[in-house]
Amino acid sequence: MPNILPSRRRKLKIWIHGDEPAEMKGTGKLGQSISLLDLASNDYLGLSKHPNLIEAAQTALYTNGVGAGASPLVTGHRPIHKELEEALAHWLGKESVLLFPSGFQANLAAVIALADRHTTVLADKLIHHSLLVGIKASGAKLKRYAHNDLDDLEKHLKLHSNNKSTHRPLVITESLFSMEGTSPEINKMASLCDKYGAQLLVDEAHSLGIMGSQGRGLCYELSTPITILSGTFGKAFGSGGAFLACSNRMSEYLLQASGGFRYSTALAPPLAAAALAALKLIKSNCDWGQKLQKRAEDWRFRLSAEGWSRPPGKGPILPLVLGTDQQALLYQAQLENAGLLSVAIRPPTIPEGTSRLRLVLRRDLPKGTFDRLINALKTL
Ligand SMILES: Cc1ncc(COP(=O)(O)O)c(C=O)c1O
Repeated sequence: MPNILPSRRRKLKIWIHGDEPAEMKGTGKLGQSISLLDLASNDYLGLSKHPNLIEAAQTALYTNGVGAGASPLVTGHRPIHKELEEALAHWLGKESVLLFPSGFQANLAAVIALADRHTTVLADKLIHHSLLVGIKASGAKLKRYAHNDLDDLEKHLKLHSNNKSTHRPLVITESLFSMEGTSPEINKMASLCDKYGAQLLVDEAHSLGIMGSQGRGLCYELSTPITILSGTFGKAFGSGGAFLACSNRMSEYLLQASGGFRYSTALAPPLAAAALAALKLIKSNCDWGQKLQKRAEDWRFRLSAEGWSRPPGKGPILPLVLGTDQQALLYQAQLENAGLLSVAIRPPTIPEGTSRLRLVLRRDLPKGTFDRLINALKTL
């Protein structure tokens, strides 16, 4: 058993106000109540407390129960799951969707379906931990390419094709990197994969609901289709659970062969119902993502005007890289004093020396939030 470091879990207990969706309440060190504005969670559209989601979850709770009670192939797959799968597949223009209880599990299942010990996996240097666990479990050979660097990726693809391997390589990326806020050029990446006969797995956990045409993510309507798209309901969809979208053939393979799918209790029906309600809201408010991106663009501009280096990317994740853990924690505490919640992200989640505040925008932030933020940042 390796040495275990003291827990970094914060002492502050946080919960969300019922009536002020963007406000959070916490209990400070001395036990007094403090109010924190949420600039930290992934509830980008503020849907986790939306009445439509609550009502849908409640209805499913009373009709289906709290849990699914069995794996999907036994009795766990209910009409609500089927409805969600079909609606998602239609929305994303995919042949098939399979639901999973979490994005972590979906990613594991996707990698294991696409790679084995004969496979070379070419993965972005900064991919999510769940994907790395999947690669390890598959036994594949892992090569990392520089973050979002398609020239570096092509070098690796060329090398692999020169080796005359009969096994197709697997390329893995995220479409919106959760700690960086950056995105690769997915269209170009998909064409490269096509050119070199590689499979492509894209984790769209942070972009679905926000990025791309009407929030359909960055893999929507690519000129070259990807092999598997992974998405989660725990972020912009305000619910929980996840899915893989792919061809009918791949979906059938996963259904037959994926232990992560076959041997795990199906997604809880209330979460599936809430995810479906979120999808309906996102479809009928198709400018939400664009508006959030516009606001994020404004924040980026104003942060750089205030002397901060401009956070990269286009989505609602704006990291302020500060360097040391101490600096990041100092800024976190400073923001907390000003009633703002942003979390210091430190190694091993991100590379050494790049500790940061991960600022996250959400749709329901009140006017004047940026001024509050910049005033709090100025005091250090
Ligand atoms: C990029 C990415 N993929 C997958 C996951 C896992 O998703 P879930 O929270 O549904 O397990 C996360 C969650 O942190 C994530 O950030």
